[in-house]
Amino acid sequence: MKHDRIEKNVGLLGVLTVVAISFGGLAEIVPLYFSPQMNEPAPGVVPYPALQLEGRDIYIREGCGNCHSQMVRPLRAETERYGHYSLAGESVYDHPFLFGSKRTGPDLARVGGRYSDEWHKLHLLNPRDLVPESNMPGYPWLAERVLDGADTPGKLRALRRLGVPYSDEQIAAATAAVAGRTELEALIAYLQGLGLAARTWR
Ligand code: HEC
Repeated sequence: MKHDRIEKNVGLLGVLTVVAISFGGLAEIVPLYFSPQMNEPAPGVVPYPALQLEGRDIYIREGCGNCHSQMVRPLRAETERYGHYSLAGESVYDHPFLFGSKRTGPDLARVGGRYSDEWHKLHLLNPRDLVPESNMPGYPWLAERVLDGADTPGKLRALRRLGVPYSDEQIAAATAAVAGRTELEALIAYLQGLGLAARTWR
């Protein structure tokens, strides 16, 4: 039987296995590149304003994603706790995306508007002032570092190359939107924007 020959020849079996899996991959992955659901922004999702974009970079730099995911799974326990499950169309402007998987702390995909700016400020400076049992580190230096916005237009331009529809006006105004604000303010602006679009879906 022909199948015998394949099963007794490890090299051939390996090659044919890869071929079989590749067809599966093509059938499953390639259509996603053309599906509007994956490539079009979900209702209400807009590119990050300049200050939020700087805040997002601080989120990445400080490693917040090592303890916090940004991905609400379509499971009842999650949607009751956090809100609407995450849609692919929420991440179309995220380069890189920050879904994460480690949840030492809660998921943050829907944290926008849940607390006041003042709450975030106190919490980020020293989480234990608000949540005594918290093991999240404090980030007091964020309040002392002031952004000058010199790099911000370049960041917007780079994202525009990747398909984020920033206008020339937004790029021209980016430095002024950021200059003089602290890193803490930028990070809070970013957190307060997370999941805002999803609030309108219910
Ligand atoms: C070592 C893990 C760890 C890191 C790193 C961390 N966090 Fe947390 N975070 C937690 C834990 C645990 C909680 C829950 C207790 C609390 O509220 O402090 C939390 C809570 C939060 C909350 C409140 C969420 C809610 O729904 O109540 C926010 C917002 C938050 N973190 C933002 C951040 C940001 C921004 C950073 C990076 C600057 C960060 N965290 C870094 C562990 C972490």
